[in-house]
Amino acid sequence: MVTSVANPTRPGGTVLVTGGAGFIGCAISPALAEAFDRVVVVDNLHPQIHSSGERPSELHEAAELIVADVAEADTWDKVLADVTPDVVIHLAAETGTGQSLEESTRHTHVNVVGTSQLLDGLNRHGKLPRRIVLSSSRAIYGEGAWQKADGTVFYPGQRTSETLDKSQWDFPDSTPVAMKASETFPAPVSVYGATKLAQENVLQAWAKAYGVETVILRLQNVYGPGQSLINPYTGIMSLFCRMAMGGKSIPLYEDGEVRRDFILIDDVASAIVAGATSPTVQGEPMDIGSGEFQTIGTAAKLIAAHYNAPEPHVTGQYRQGDVRHAWADVEAAQRVLGWTPRYNLAQGIERLATWIDAQPDVQPA
Ligand SMILES: NC(=O)c1ccc[n+]([C@@H]2O[C@H](COP(=O)([O-])OP(=O)(O)OC[C@H]3O[C@@H](n4cnc5c(N)ncnc54)[C@H](O)[C@@H]3O)[C@@H](O)[C@H]2O)c1
Repeated sequence: MVTSVANPTRPGGTVLVTGGAGFIGCAISPALAEAFDRVVVVDNLHPQIHSSGERPSELHEAAELIVADVAEADTWDKVLADVTPDVVIHLAAETGTGQSLEESTRHTHVNVVGTSQLLDGLNRHGKLPRRIVLSSSRAIYGEGAWQKADGTVFYPGQRTSETLDKSQWDFPDSTPVAMKASETFPAPVSVYGATKLAQENVLQAWAKAYGVETVILRLQNVYGPGQSLINPYTGIMSLFCRMAMGGKSIPLYEDGEVRRDFILIDDVASAIVAGATSPTVQGEPMDIGSGEFQTIGTAAKLIAAHYNAPEPHVTGQYRQGDVRHAWADVEAAQRVLGWTPRYNLAQGIERLATWIDAQPDVQPA
């Protein structure tokens, strides 16, 4: 379906952003304030992210903040009595991958029921938006696809404690393949990943039935200025910075060769804003990453060098639910949204570290 957005840089109307007071929400708020007439944020200022419980200073002043829980039906009755969204950007979520194993009900409730309550509310109030943008995750792929030497692609599934205890990190005689929505089957290995896939499925089934456009963006590892410095469950880059700042050698899990696709917040923000304002969208999920992988060891070395900290060291530890390698093929987002990532890892780390160094109450880890 083709949208009615005439001016992609300024479609106007109202955008409703759930979880809009978080890391990504704050980063997109200035561009949304430019592009839309009204920006409404619904966020419960979750204490794991917002220690003070106050409105974050990074949230653009034009954004109207409603402090409420997305998983409560009452929230939507209150919000939608006043707000008629043209576009919804659904960011609100419990995001701790490791934590989701121990608190699966909490993650499932906020991520899945939070999505269905939003959709039911829109329906109940007869306020169907033109488009819903969902921030999904590379976690929906789990270990993703791997390839044998003869080119056969296979899905190895979750690594077992048995193999990990033997320090067998990779899948033997094979190499990993980039994550690409049109080719890679979803196979989450964390409860968080399973809830993000459920969000996608619930949204797509609902939106197709009502003719609402969807933009599903599967984000890789987002980092950069504005990232939570207090949430112990997310944000490996900010944790590494705080360790190096304290003069510590950064510990590297497994053999330090774990691959990730670290994408700077600025690039994620431009992708989400493009998803909200692009004149045409295709409805199928798209991958958002920097377009290349780095090892965790490489990222740690760059951070250690910035702080003149000792070299990182390999510990051989592992974390249940972590995948071995992850990076995105971003061709679909480039083609459909006309978006392209602009920052490499060294530039991004410099920006993150400079921002962390300027924070008044930052504590070394
Ligand atoms: N940051 C990443 O690396 C990354 C990667 C992939 C996907 N994502 C997705 O992007 C989205 C935003 O992530 P982020 O990094 O900005 O996280 P964040 O934790 O900084 O922001 C999430 C926001 O949602 C709010 N929230 C949590 N539970 C809520 C509830 N029940 N009701 C209302 N608000 C609630 C929090 O207060 C917070 O402000 C999430 O959906 C996440 O799954 C993030």
